[in-house]
Amino acid sequence: MSDLEQENKQLREQVRNLALVQNIASDLPSPPVLSDTLASIGRIVRQAMPGIDLALFFLHHAPSEALAMMGGDWNADLAIDMRALTIGVSEKVPLASAFGTGQSFLYEKENPKQNVAWGQDGLCLVLNPARLYYVPLTVEHGHIGVLALAAREALDLGPLQCHLADLLERPIAIAVERSRLYERLRSANEKLEQINKLKNEFISMVSHELRTPLTTIKGFVSIVLNEETGPLNDQQRHFLQTSDRAIDRLTLLVSDLLDISRIEAGQIKMQLRPVSLRDLFGRIATNFMPQFKTQGLTLTLNIPESLPTVLADPDRITQVLDNLLTNALKFTTKGGITLSAVDKGDFVMVSVKDTGVGIPLDEQDKIFDKFYQIKTGGGWPAKGTGLGLAIVRSIVESHRGKVWVECEAGQGADFRFILPRARLEAADPIAATGHVLS
Ligand SMILES: Nc1ncnc2c1ncn2[C@@H]1O[C@H](COP(=O)(O)OP(=O)(O)OP(=O)(O)O)[C@@H](O)[C@H]1O
Ligand SMILES: [Mg+2]
Repeated sequence: MSDLEQENKQLREQVRNLALVQNIASDLPSPPVLSDTLASIGRIVRQAMPGIDLALFFLHHAPSEALAMMGGDWNADLAIDMRALTIGVSEKVPLASAFGTGQSFLYEKENPKQNVAWGQDGLCLVLNPARLYYVPLTVEHGHIGVLALAAREALDLGPLQCHLADLLERPIAIAVERSRLYERLRSANEKLEQINKLKNEFISMVSHELRTPLTTIKGFVSIVLNEETGPLNDQQRHFLQTSDRAIDRLTLLVSDLLDISRIEAGQIKMQLRPVSLRDLFGRIATNFMPQFKTQGLTLTLNIPESLPTVLADPDRITQVLDNLLTNALKFTTKGGITLSAVDKGDFVMVSVKDTGVGIPLDEQDKIFDKFYQIKTGGGWPAKGTGLGLAIVRSIVESHRGKVWVECEAGQGADFRFILPRARLEAADPIAATGHVLS
């Protein structure tokens, strides 16, 4: 072979190897579930080296200090349950040695002078291959396992194939490690969801149990305050009034906790039906009027007559508006609040806009988190627990809607949320029973 031909051959070889490396990275399954990743890499390796009967992955399981066969690709006619193969990392067998030393080991049946003791090797015993090659897989933080390649014909696993396997080792190790991290993340996520569910159930149970004694305490304090049990002096009345207000605050907190835990746990189903926001706003405005008068603030309603109905649970949307209006009143000292709604086609957008202190840009996402309240110079600004907006978000999202806040510097806050418009063909039974729908 001339020099040119030799060079050409080497170049073609390099291009082929590069394409293989790329395949390993690009053909990974999505999501990168570990068993799928190992099967996919095993297939690619076997396609690149015809004649290889199996490409198996033994991965390190740190808690049990074992190398467990986790998957790969092998010939259909190999009727062995390879999934049962697990060995300890300290066993005196070639697989464990490859892992421990970080060195590849080649078994050649025809060669009587082997460099390690193959007599005890599990794969050798069950497969009786002509050649077996163990390639340790290494990433930055250490060895993660071993790739085993075996062929029943000696020529199918010669120096060329071993060299190629060594070349592919790094990208394979990286792809496998990525999948393992994905699996760990997924299982950590599942555990967190489980813990969150338990926490919600616990809060829901505790707040439910707290409601009964609270009602009893409230009842007896009212009886004493109303002097049904005898006259009170000024100091006694003052103490009891303070207790009464504290009971109200506690009752509100308990009911907020109960609400949020139940909504998050999916225990509260939204009773969806076509709702006229015009009617709903009217009722809410009447309820809030005394408070607006007391604070000397104006309430403006801005709802077009032609506004379509929305598919919503009226009690829960009332709770959303109650929370938003209560906040607006709490953070506004002059000017007023505008409650408006606009038709946006497939949905209706509601806005509760105040002329109060406003919300800094970097706080606008955080305020929807549970127990989050904006700190001001003097510490915590407002009474409350920081649950109102978390409840608002849970309710709106349970309607498949979205809530956010807009706020220009010095302009007060504008809380907006969208709700889906009610349609005749809605799957909801009430929507299909003769209500006038838009
Ligand atoms: N309209 C508003 N203007 C300015 N800041 C607001 C407004 N609404 C909410 N915030 C800020 O967002 C925080 C969270 O509001 P959220 O309703 O969740 O809790 P809260 O009103 O403090 O307590 P709770 O509603 O549980 O009684 C508030 O403490 C306040 O800092
Ligand atoms: Mg609030």
